[in-house]
Amino acid sequence: MSSELSKIAAKIQDKSLREKVTQLIEKPTIRIGEREYTGLPLAVSPAGLSHHHSYSGGLLEHMEASTEIALGLCKIVERIYGGKVDRDLVIAGMLLHDIFKPLTYERMEDGTYATAPLADRLDHLTLAVSKMIRMGFPLDLVHIVGAHHGGSAGPIWPRTIEALICHLADITDSRLNGEVLRAARYLSRTATGEELNINSSKEAFDIVRSKQSEHSNSEKANLAVKDAIERIIAERKKG
Ligand SMILES: [Fe+2]
Ligand SMILES: [Fe+2]
Repeated sequence: MSSELSKIAAKIQDKSLREKVTQLIEKPTIRIGEREYTGLPLAVSPAGLSHHHSYSGGLLEHMEASTEIALGLCKIVERIYGGKVDRDLVIAGMLLHDIFKPLTYERMEDGTYATAPLADRLDHLTLAVSKMIRMGFPLDLVHIVGAHHGGSAGPIWPRTIEALICHLADITDSRLNGEVLRAARYLSRTATGEELNINSSKEAFDIVRSKQSEHSNSEKANLAVKDAIERIIAERKKG
């Protein structure tokens, strides 16, 4: 497990829950019929194919960022609204909510990602919920994972404070990352006539930053974006 994920998992106070969560993160596989499905390694999996975190390592970033957002929401609920939150459930929920996304993608020869055959039959929520029930996770945690897309894009709306927090944290991070990716792609297209294939969140944030720091006229802004893209391409060649 990555050191960042280990640090987050260590915040789960309940020992047996912490161990179970760690066990699933370390081996996110599922047996269906005669076959054991193993997806992309967690460390390289994206968290989406185009909308958000759609690059290698995107899922890890999303797990980390959505947990931070969720913990911020826990603080707000308790300090400002006087509510009570079970943080163990929230942390475990954020770590596990997309744990089966790596099973739904595959890497193509050109380095891009595509939908894996398993994802033609089952989505990452159904896979995670099934596995978690088999592993004996508590119902309230299974609910968080099942409800993280909300009721219009998933099987059930959040019915607990913890599930609501996780749902909102998931949407917030997906939007934050997705909007910046979309803007960076658009800016690269307008500045160079060709859309840059964004390889990391840093690249996307760099491009958007270059545009916003040069807002006196659009020609200068386009030049700043072009410069940023050239820097990114040079960096890629180095690395
Ligand atoms: Fe999801
Ligand atoms: Fe998510």
